[in-house]
Amino acid sequence: MAAALVPRRPWKDRRVVLGVTGGIAAYKSVQIARDLTRLGAIVDVALTRAAQKFVAPLSFEGVTGRPALTHLFSAEGAALHIRLGREADVVCVAPAGADFIARAAQGRADDLICTTLLATRAPVLVCPAMNDRMFAHAQVQANLRHLSEELCYQVVGPAEGALAVGEGQGPGRMLEPWQIEEAVGRALTGMTALSGTRVLVTAGPTREAIDAVRYVGNRSSGRMGYALAAAAWRRGADVTLVSGPSPLEVPFGVEVVRVETAREMDDVVAARIEEADVTVFAAAVADYRPSEPKERKMKRRDVGDDLTLSLVENPDIALGTLSSRKAGSVCVGFALETDDLESNALAKLEGKKFDLLVANDATEDGAGFEVDTNRVTLFHASGEREPMPLMSKDDVAEEILDRVSVLRGDIGDGSTSDGAAR
Ligand code: CTP
Repeated sequence: MAAALVPRRPWKDRRVVLGVTGGIAAYKSVQIARDLTRLGAIVDVALTRAAQKFVAPLSFEGVTGRPALTHLFSAEGAALHIRLGREADVVCVAPAGADFIARAAQGRADDLICTTLLATRAPVLVCPAMNDRMFAHAQVQANLRHLSEELCYQVVGPAEGALAVGEGQGPGRMLEPWQIEEAVGRALTGMTALSGTRVLVTAGPTREAIDAVRYVGNRSSGRMGYALAAAAWRRGADVTLVSGPSPLEVPFGVEVVRVETAREMDDVVAARIEEADVTVFAAAVADYRPSEPKERKMKRRDVGDDLTLSLVENPDIALGTLSSRKAGSVCVGFALETDDLESNALAKLEGKKFDLLVANDATEDGAGFEVDTNRVTLFHASGEREPMPLMSKDDVAEEILDRVSVLRGDIGDGSTSDGAAR
């Protein structure tokens, strides 16, 4: 997701060739080049002649700090595409217009982007963008099938939605830059210990109705759980996010099941836990709910001076999964404390049989709710205790998944790119 754009895994110091072909969506590619650069990638932009009708090479040079490449035969001679192809960790073509898709499917070598595709062994992402009738054309569909099935390129998108000059609503629109950046992140990550696993994440607060318009809730934004879901998807997992009410955008590639109450969250988790290879309980679940929520809005004149809410206990979702967790699965819990961090964390680790417990102190600056950073201590079931420095929630998510990967019996560090994740 387009969170804080500071250099971070998996983009940091990786080489991305961004191919830009002719299409109105090319204006969004400047944003992609800028974001990837700010995430730490070294971005070489190659433009077709048609792309230059829509956006100038200079715009890309301004955001990447590197020359934009427009000619197959450059000052480097005929070797430019060979070098680009060899050095690339991923090649991403966005937007990919119908003409480019046809030429790539034929293996043509008539421009810098197509020749680089032939010269590379890195994963290739193709992000189609065109009018919806063109996209639906049987020839375009056949070309895309050829790219994905025969050449193992990843076709990323398109989305549905408004197209240029207000025409059409069907699939054809290029995905948003942050979604393409996430897909690039997944391709850069390559094979990991989480590739192909099922990951279940709970996130956000729950809301427990008091009456038709009021609820008992808490200050959780869901950021930590959403960051974990996004990071697990980048590592190749099939991710389901069971989310209480959160204003955050659903991470790209992640299935979301939205719930309101603890009991709804409990039902969804119970239905999915047996399939999960990794479960992360990051939600801030309300432990109690009003015992008699009112169907209509309560009126002050009826309530009077004093209102006492009677609450009953909600299910403990994590505890309820103890007997149904898949054998060999890894379970991660969270504990947000204001007092006695260590003893409370250890009690939760043991009581809910977590493999790893992520604890933090809500009273510390930069930790807890409604901030992008966190300072956590990791308590392992093995007894190890790891205090971590203050870092972004995205980085905390990566650190947690590193530990999960080790627990899954693999030392995959999520930083290799061998093209196997194509
Ligand atoms: N949890 C859960 N269901 C609940 C409450 C908590 O699944 N009803 C999970 C949380 O997602 C977290 C862990 O259990 O991973 C600990 O949650 P926390 O709210 O810190 O602790 P509680 O067990 O509720 O204890 P307390 O509120 O007394 O600290």
